[in-house]
Amino acid sequence: MHILSSTTEMQRIALEYKRSGKRVGVVPTMGFLHDGHASLIRTAREECDVVITTIFVNPLQFAPTEDLSRYPRDLERDTALASEAGADVLFTPKAEEMYTPDFALNISIGGVTAPFEGEFRPTHFDGVATVVAKLFLLTQPDVAFFGQKDYQQCMVVQKLVRDLAFPLELRICPTMREKDGLAMSSRNVYLSPEDRINALVLHKALQEAKTLIERGERERSSIESLMKSILTSIPHLRIDYAAAADATTLAQPDTFATTQAIVLLLAVRLGSTRLIDNVVVVEFEV
Ligand code: PAF
Repeated sequence: MHILSSTTEMQRIALEYKRSGKRVGVVPTMGFLHDGHASLIRTAREECDVVITTIFVNPLQFAPTEDLSRYPRDLERDTALASEAGADVLFTPKAEEMYTPDFALNISIGGVTAPFEGEFRPTHFDGVATVVAKLFLLTQPDVAFFGQKDYQQCMVVQKLVRDLAFPLELRICPTMREKDGLAMSSRNVYLSPEDRINALVLHKALQEAKTLIERGERERSSIESLMKSILTSIPHLRIDYAAAADATTLAQPDTFATTQAIVLLLAVRLGSTRLIDNVVVVEFEV
């Protein structure tokens, strides 16, 4: 595996791949890789001639109060995992090179960025859209792989690709979970042993709400109340949101149509750890 941090070198190599007709896949990450990332890299390996994994803890997507400085990092372990999963290139740009002092771009996408994460992390998706656009231009992918775990992020990237006509396909891959159902996340490392157990309540709330919908419930308030009542069984858990929304627009009607695809979205805080998870309910027994 080729490891490089220079942005100009990355783009030069990427354009060479393109000229030689290679199908390039990119897996953008912030590092501290886990099996969820490995599965994205493996999928990219199956579909592409060249697989580029990027590791960049993007300062633009963290608010000053958030965990940028303590975000977990382990480049040695990441290198081994990326290589084992099948990456050909590991691109680890430096913040100073990604964002030179005169860097002035901010990509702000309306609509899908507004609710949920947008409400609690108002500048987050501008940072994501800006860095993802730059990573796409540096790595020139034919296919870009993202995990469904960050559902709203996937919608934002989809909008970015469409609105700026990036010539690439987006692959949204299923959320990888631990055996007990906890969605894999680099931030799980922050959880105390007690909160690691408490964190299972997210999966439970999503599964029970999914079952409720599959049994015919379409009232948004009933679906959200069920999730909230399950989450609040953990006394010190704080809910940012526990919401049901249209899976393609994130609209929140009072009553969902019978065949409407619904996404259930959660964001909670356990101690100093913020966790998100989601599930899409697409099959209805009606
Ligand atoms: O999902 C992430 O790890 C990040 O938000 C991403 C897409 C790599 C952009 O920094």
